[in-house]
Amino acid sequence: MSFPDPQSRSAALFERARRIMPGANTRHMITFGPYIVYGSHGAGCRLVDVDGNVYIDWVNNFSAQIHGYGYRPIVEAVRAQTERMLCCILPGEAEIELAEIIAWRLPGVEQVRFANSGTEAVMVAVKGARGLTGRSKVAKTEGGYHGQYDLVEASFLPTPENWGPATRPAAPPFARGTPQSLLDQAVIVPFNDATATLEILEEQAGQLAAVIIDPIPARLGFVQADRAYLQALRDYCSRTGTLLVFDEVFCNRVGFHGAQGHVGVTPDLTVLGKIIGGGLPIGAIGGTRAAMSVFDNLAGPLRVSHSGTFTANPMSMVAGIASLQGLTPDVFARLAAQGDRLRAGLAARFREAGLAMQASGVGSMSSLQLFVGPARNYREFHLKSGPGYLQRMQRLHREMLDEGVLMATRGLMIGSTPMTDADVDETLERAGRALQRFAASEQAVA
Ligand SMILES: Cc1ncc(COP(=O)(O)O)c(C=O)c1O
Repeated sequence: MSFPDPQSRSAALFERARRIMPGANTRHMITFGPYIVYGSHGAGCRLVDVDGNVYIDWVNNFSAQIHGYGYRPIVEAVRAQTERMLCCILPGEAEIELAEIIAWRLPGVEQVRFANSGTEAVMVAVKGARGLTGRSKVAKTEGGYHGQYDLVEASFLPTPENWGPATRPAAPPFARGTPQSLLDQAVIVPFNDATATLEILEEQAGQLAAVIIDPIPARLGFVQADRAYLQALRDYCSRTGTLLVFDEVFCNRVGFHGAQGHVGVTPDLTVLGKIIGGGLPIGAIGGTRAAMSVFDNLAGPLRVSHSGTFTANPMSMVAGIASLQGLTPDVFARLAAQGDRLRAGLAARFREAGLAMQASGVGSMSSLQLFVGPARNYREFHLKSGPGYLQRMQRLHREMLDEGVLMATRGLMIGSTPMTDADVDETLERAGRALQRFAASEQAVA
């Protein structure tokens, strides 16, 4: 393909969308330029756009499509459910089954409730933690992404102008107009700095409902929170009656027992989404029986209400069951080997192109960076990235697109089960050409 192509159907659709939708989209995370490519259909790990261009899909809808396109068990489960019903007011057996599968896999989950998205599940988890503790504040790590709820958007993408001292991070708003009264409820701690984090948390003891953390955050190149750091959070929460919440909406795909199994620390509440819905909208809140009791309306007066027209809708439930049944320990091991193959191959291509780049990540989650060396927290990542990072990444994204490789515009590459070693090798061959052109463009810009 040749991107951008002003004569393409995607370019025409983009112009049409601009007239009716601000920004021509309903998903700000997709930052193509000068127009967005429109999807048509997919098969396996390949995605076809409306102009017939075929891409090896390394985004997989930001992880949700872990089985790629046309995975038969999901297609058939959804087709059968479509015939039975799309949704109704009564609960169905499928939601019990999906909850059982999740609880059986994740060490910190004894009970489950469903929501429609990760954002919504985070919001419900926060309300649950507040209901249990009777406290209102929530601590989160600097730069952490937990969806669109404005409380947890505090300190998402802070800059040196507003981030405050490293050991005492500020809580800048993400959306303009966020009430200060809400931001006062957000306590920001520095990722992976146990000493500074505990100092901040101790001051807030008795006021904090929850500490929420993504143990393997995508935005930090899937750098893993240190086990000692997570254990320090675990100990603090146990000692002070604060809920430890793991946001595993993305990183749950690291393994059969989720991120909590991978890092060896067990939270009180776990927030899930993406892969547990097999490609349909979903979110979930899971946790210990004690933590989840806050939602139990059979055990006495209701402390926190949780409902929704589409929560636990049977379409998402049956797709989720089929998705998780196809994710056995062996399949996770294969996904991890695929990720290792991609990262090692990319490292070789960076060297060949003379680029100071690296591919970090774990399991099927990889992240390309335009710098080398470790970045263990948000500030290090931000400062290493330097000015114009997103623009440089977009140039690379465009070169990859031209080679038929779809990665996320921030450099994420997320694997899927239908990918074979041959698909990974083909990706590397194409990426090699894209990286050579990118290296030339870097020199031209410099
Ligand atoms: C860690 C994390 N939390 C929450 C969310 C929000 O999930 P959703 O997009 O389903 O609302 C995401 C989405 O990418 C995420 O990566």
